[in-house]
Amino acid sequence: MPTLAPLEEVNEIMKGIWESGIMTHNGPLVQRFEREVCEHLGVPKMVACSNGTIALQMAIKALGKTGEIITTPFTFIATISSIMWEHCTPVFVDIDPETLNIDPKKIEERITCHTVAIMPVHVFGNACQIDEIDAVAKAHNIPVIYDAAHAVGVKYKGKCIMEYGDLSCTSFHATKMLNTAEGGGVFTLNEELDERLRRIRFFGFENHADIVEDGFNGKMTEVHAALGLANLRYLDKALADRKEKYALYKEMLSENPEIGFQKITTDCNYSYFPVIFRDEETMLKVTAALNAENVYPRRYFYPSVNTFTKIVPYIPMPMSEDIASRVLCLPLHVRMTMQNVEEIARLVLKTI
Ligand SMILES: Cc1ncc(COP(=O)(O)O)c(C=O)c1O
Repeated sequence: MPTLAPLEEVNEIMKGIWESGIMTHNGPLVQRFEREVCEHLGVPKMVACSNGTIALQMAIKALGKTGEIITTPFTFIATISSIMWEHCTPVFVDIDPETLNIDPKKIEERITCHTVAIMPVHVFGNACQIDEIDAVAKAHNIPVIYDAAHAVGVKYKGKCIMEYGDLSCTSFHATKMLNTAEGGGVFTLNEELDERLRRIRFFGFENHADIVEDGFNGKMTEVHAALGLANLRYLDKALADRKEKYALYKEMLSENPEIGFQKITTDCNYSYFPVIFRDEETMLKVTAALNAENVYPRRYFYPSVNTFTKIVPYIPMPMSEDIASRVLCLPLHVRMTMQNVEEIARLVLKTI
């Protein structure tokens, strides 16, 4: 369920589009959205784009190299497809089964002379072990692109998480903490990369004249930016609401020691409530019991992406495959009540 600003507020911002006739091409609302998101999160710059997958592709393109990209198998398929669309090869490193993020201790052994980037994911908005990842990356002079699709509102050591890595990419998809229906953003502190990203987003044009990059159409429209600007006013409320519901789920479900939770590293935006069951059978039993009451949890991420053998050769990733087989994200959104959370938690406890 999306977090949506009142329709009148969206309409008020939309009016400008009807007045000016400007619907796209880095229009005034997209520029305002970039500015206001940055002010809100406390970062210098963001390049808004059409979705989170394109954000990742723009980031890889901006680095300008093809080769191997080290990433996690416990992610959404878009992390992998963006790597492959940019003519690179995903190289998987298994996860830490507690944090559900890439295990930083296992990265170094997969680095080769073909490695062009490391692309960790802040899974479910749980910050990666950034210091450890950066230390490995710096030792080998390899750039880091964070897939921060889930991570709007997360901080690391007091700073916005989007400031870390050479580039950080987020999603403004309808299900995310901040949404523009479909949308994405790329963050970098590197001026040169920022400028390149803006050209890549606009077909590779420089000054509407010459093509200087291998670009594509990655633009965000004015309509999406208007929705984002209105929704941004409700971001802090949405973050607080999620945190409160997350805490209630956790308190109630902790009653059963067999239920496992994601270990929060330093900070998290509590945008999802993943539950790790003893085995797949228990997870399926809980799913069926919830579905019978019209409650629809989601197997997310499932399956582990290294098992998509139509697109990648299978290499076992035991931790990721194990977690993917028994993890379930329970409903968590602004439209549910605390009572709904209680009812769902009670149903889970009763079923197992
Ligand atoms: C980890 C991760 N990366 C990337 C994406 C892609 O984002 P989008 O749906 O905006 O293309 C998603 C989407 O949910 C995601 O979960």
